[in-house]
Amino acid sequence: MRYIRFIVDQRINEAVTVLRNGGLVALPTETVYGLGADAENELAVRRIFAVKGRPASHPLIVHLGDTSDVRSWARDVPNTFYALARAFWPGPLTVVLWRSDRASDAVTGGQDTVALRVPDHPLTLEVLRAFRGGIAAPSANRFGKVSPTTAEHVRAELGSDVELILDGGPCSVGLESTIVDLTKAEPRILRPGGVSREDIIRVLGRPVGLGPAGDDVRAPGMLASHYAPRAGLLVVPRDTLFAEAEQRQAEGKRVAVLAPPTTKLPAGVHRHEVPGDAEGFARELYGALRKLDAEGFELVVTAMPGEEGLGLAVKDRLLKAAAPRG
Ligand code: TXA
Ligand code: MG
Repeated sequence: MRYIRFIVDQRINEAVTVLRNGGLVALPTETVYGLGADAENELAVRRIFAVKGRPASHPLIVHLGDTSDVRSWARDVPNTFYALARAFWPGPLTVVLWRSDRASDAVTGGQDTVALRVPDHPLTLEVLRAFRGGIAAPSANRFGKVSPTTAEHVRAELGSDVELILDGGPCSVGLESTIVDLTKAEPRILRPGGVSREDIIRVLGRPVGLGPAGDDVRAPGMLASHYAPRAGLLVVPRDTLFAEAEQRQAEGKRVAVLAPPTTKLPAGVHRHEVPGDAEGFARELYGALRKLDAEGFELVVTAMPGEEGLGLAVKDRLLKAAAPRG
């Protein structure tokens, strides 16, 4: 026990040292792996954008070790924030607040708001608390691609571009955090994610908008094509899944279907088994898309989920992965 404790501490010290030296550390969170840098080191933050191939105008989430840290990163914090933080932090919720001077243009893309989150992973919380600063971290994948849910995914995609990859096991939620904008009169979900819309409405006891407001294009997750595998993705009504899979296969495509074991499929179509519930599907979706890409499938077909609970976030990611590629 003492020995294991020692090993864990060494990795945390190493991560903190890399961060302090302006390096990049891939960190496990409950949602997806993040590509982390010291949020107050502009050069380090710029390297995140370079490694991801991400436009500098797309702001990053600053990860914090504790709710109390929010005070130094944001100003004019509304009461709705405290209600949400009490209910969901540490956890898969990101809040957008008015930024303080501590949040630089490099992190916020020059906006007057900042996105903040306390992630729920023991290893990363220890790193954050030992580092005592904010860690800016987007998902640890190349821009527009599928987010990583294991350390191996990060290694395969970013490998030597990162100083250190902390392996914290597979992510328990499996898709990104819910982003809630608290700078408007009505709270708005900019990106559905690991905390359901229903739970946010229940905690706030008031209406919560969905989607960016009007001309707002601040969240690149809102771009039409995103989270995309190499294979094509086709999302169809549940009752047409059998016929669609059969037709695409007859067209000569290498077709795989993401479906629970109980779903009936045409003979010869490859089934990649996924749980039938939204939580289970969310947890396994990105890993499944990566695996099917590696196995050379040309088309992945799956059924449109309902919008209850994590279904809303799953649907959002499926539609973006299925969107025409620019
Ligand atoms: O679960 C997650 O949120 C993961 C883990 C690593 O924490 N992170 C993640 O980061 O998904 P990323 O960069 O892939 O997506 C962050 C999203 C982007 O869509 C970005 O535009 C949005 O957050 N965002 C960041 N700052 C914002 C701001 N000030 N206003 C509106 N949206 C913002
Ligand atoms: Mg991302």
